[in-house]
Amino acid sequence: MPAPSDHNASNSLLPHYLQEDFGTQGFRELISSLPKEKGWLTPNIYNYKGFWFGAFHLQGALRFQQHFQAQDSDILLITLPKSGTIWLKALIFAVITRKHFLVSQETHPLLTNNPHELIPFVDVSYARETTPDFPLSNGVRVLSTHFPYPFLPESVREKNCKLIYLCRSPKDTVVSYWHFANKMRGEKSENNKEMKEISLEEAVENYCRGVSLGGPFWDHTLGYWNQSSENPRKVLFVKYEEIKEEPEAHLRRLAAFLGCPFSKEEEKGGVVGEILRLCSFDNLSGLEVNRSGKGVFGNNNSVMFRKGEVGDWRNHLTDEMASRIDQIVEEKFNGSGLKP
Ligand code: A3P
Repeated sequence: MPAPSDHNASNSLLPHYLQEDFGTQGFRELISSLPKEKGWLTPNIYNYKGFWFGAFHLQGALRFQQHFQAQDSDILLITLPKSGTIWLKALIFAVITRKHFLVSQETHPLLTNNPHELIPFVDVSYARETTPDFPLSNGVRVLSTHFPYPFLPESVREKNCKLIYLCRSPKDTVVSYWHFANKMRGEKSENNKEMKEISLEEAVENYCRGVSLGGPFWDHTLGYWNQSSENPRKVLFVKYEEIKEEPEAHLRRLAAFLGCPFSKEEEKGGVVGEILRLCSFDNLSGLEVNRSGKGVFGNNNSVMFRKGEVGDWRNHLTDEMASRIDQIVEEKFNGSGLKP
């Protein structure tokens, strides 16, 4: 249901997530009181309680905190942008629904739906509506978010729902994010002259200052890392690079964490390999729905798929940029036991 007291934004040519002039009077007053910087995907991003988000996401965060009631069976997938969200969504959807949708079947939902349609972002759903309905995957709600741990509603902490955090090397993430931001800006620049390309220098500079959606990346990642150490039955911490290196082992780990480990028959029948093939970069990126379909922001789904490789930063970052990010990682993660 749309929020009744929302003020309609004046520039209707812009998609909702690029608009700033919306929401209740109280929300607009809040936004105008926050520290702001130029955004990557949106005109501005704002610092709210230590983390950077666009106005659209902040609207979502506030409503999520206020209205979301977690259930014990909920599964929440958490990422920073460009750390492999779509891959995680595809893997988890296939794992959770494998009894209903045999992975080998020609009508598997992942063959005709972008993973973001099957597992919605609570950020986007709550930014659009005060009380969104969420689909069930095999009887459970599987949702995703870019919000940091302190933004989660109280009920998520209290209930026995499961959280999976996917982390990716910051150097590959910033390169991926930079490409993505420019593709998205390119698609929108017709209607918004402010959305011209951002340079890699500017992107790295902002990323290193913590100014990127969901950033500072170190606080976002450490928040969930600490939770996974304190409560490993509730929060599973996974790295993109680990899944790439040992996909079968990590898929088994994800399934076991969610309480649906692969049976002996499934192992014998090669289900683990089938899921990995279904969700592979080559398979997903080649599907019609992901080549020419439209995404949640009116974007082309193809912008979600670029290379899907580990170490592509070497083709883009200068030595100076790479060592600056390495230094930040060294400093911020020192003593945590985590090396992202
Ligand atoms: P690159 O830009 O490095 O290629 P997100 O889903 O969080 O937006 O992350 C996007 C990144 O994940 C992009 O990285 C994209 O190519 C990569 N990606 C998409 N699908 C993938 C898959 N099935 N396996 C591995 N990586 C994938």
